[in-house]
Amino acid sequence: MKVNKVCCIGAGYVGGPTMAVIALKCPDLQVTVVDVRKERIDSWNGPFDSLPVYEPGLKEIIEKVRGRNLFFSSEIDIAIDSSDMIFMAVNTPTKTEGVGAGMAADLKYIEACAKNIAQVAKTDKIVVEKSTLPVRTAEKIREILDNQGRAGVSFEILSNPEFLAEGTAIQDLFKSDRVLIGGDSTSKGKKAVQALVDIYKNWIPIEKIITTNVWSSELAKLASNAMLAQRISSINSISALCEKTNADIHELSKAIGMDHRIGPHFLNASVGFGGSCFQKDILNLVYLCKYYGLEEVAEYWHQVIKINDYQKNRFAQKIIDGLGGDLLGKRIAILGWAFKANTNDSRESPAIYVTKKLVERGANVKIFDPLVSLSTIMRDIEDYKIDKDACSISSNIDECINDVELVAILTEASAYKDLGKELLIFDGRGINKNAKFSIGK
Ligand code: NAD
Ligand code: UDX
Repeated sequence: MKVNKVCCIGAGYVGGPTMAVIALKCPDLQVTVVDVRKERIDSWNGPFDSLPVYEPGLKEIIEKVRGRNLFFSSEIDIAIDSSDMIFMAVNTPTKTEGVGAGMAADLKYIEACAKNIAQVAKTDKIVVEKSTLPVRTAEKIREILDNQGRAGVSFEILSNPEFLAEGTAIQDLFKSDRVLIGGDSTSKGKKAVQALVDIYKNWIPIEKIITTNVWSSELAKLASNAMLAQRISSINSISALCEKTNADIHELSKAIGMDHRIGPHFLNASVGFGGSCFQKDILNLVYLCKYYGLEEVAEYWHQVIKINDYQKNRFAQKIIDGLGGDLLGKRIAILGWAFKANTNDSRESPAIYVTKKLVERGANVKIFDPLVSLSTIMRDIEDYKIDKDACSISSNIDECINDVELVAILTEASAYKDLGKELLIFDGRGINKNAKFSIGK
């Protein structure tokens, strides 16, 4: 089956970059990305320097393909009906109310997509789960499509989770370690899988495209994220022991990572992991384990989150202790608001948690992050109920670190590596040689 037109529902950090790369690598394919948020679509269609997602290399791709075979649109129904294949890349945050609140993934956006597809599709469609979803979500999607779809229209559901990391999304998409496609073993299912393989094989070596059943694919994504996060919590837990014993966590990471069975990646001790994925996906995994009665397994994975909370708090407490326990009237520079370098995304950023704790103890903070917009920082301050009168936002690094009692480094941006010797620096990323305190040292 040849696919000529695809659409992607959800123009966010996954939908935007993923579809841009597909459009670049498959010039004969027409790709339309749609979203309910009109301002997001307008911004994708706006100036190349203010696209809604910042990723190194993304702007250059959009310049090449936008208007050629990549389109951003608010006409969701038209895009769905005219496409052969529909990717669902909508958000799947942790539920805030109802059964499973605080743990389970909220599937209301994915269900809304399935309903939308069912209602408007007049021809057969391949529906692709791109969002990260609990195992067996495809069953729920099938129920909606079969019960609410038009008579005579049939749907194949594939799972094709996305493994890109923010900040390196384009290189991750260009050179994926693997592309995972889960589908049914029926003949129609196999044809649908092949149609998606045919898209990826334009640039991904065929041996890196692996096909599995739908449930393995859905669960592999959750388990991958859990295992990555587990490595960070493992090294972060050891960083606390290093600080007590004069061992150096960076020397440990190097020594441990040189064992080829362990490998060097994801062993950087830090203030704790952030981002929109790790915490929500592990909580979702914990919820699923509990749902299936696997209490010990649930508790094992929950500990990864608990160590992360411990690490974020520990760093904030080090700062409080470093300033003598009393922050009233103390000025602190916060360098880095995003959850890591090279992204404008601040979802679940450790900087937010650390700032909240410092402000609650009486500090005034100055925040600097050249990639995160003023409106995003202001929204975070409001959402997390941080006293906004105690926060100011600096537009340059010199102004931020001027006239403060302490500088806290929260992301690993190279600009924070060398800040001058006279400052009192607390380094949550282990990048600054003059830091008074550095995680794990
Ligand atoms: P996002 O919040 O940046 O984007 C999701 C978009 O979907 C939003 O713009 C929202 O308006 C839109 N949307 C929601 N419901 C809609 C509907 N019914 N119709 C049309 N548009 C709708 O989210 P994201 O970071 O791109 O993540 C999307 C999914 O991909 C999540 O499941 C996430 O776990 C997964 N994922 C994210 C990353 C990452 O690095 N951000 C990596 C891999 C996987
Ligand atoms: C993650 C997964 O890496 C990616 O495969 C998945 O598709 C989405 O979730 P992302 O959250 O975008 O990607 O970035 P990642 O590089 O994994 O970093 C997550 C957090 O862990 C960041 O706060 C980062 O600073 C932190 N981190 C990462 C560490 O503290 N130490 C490390 O060694 C690596």
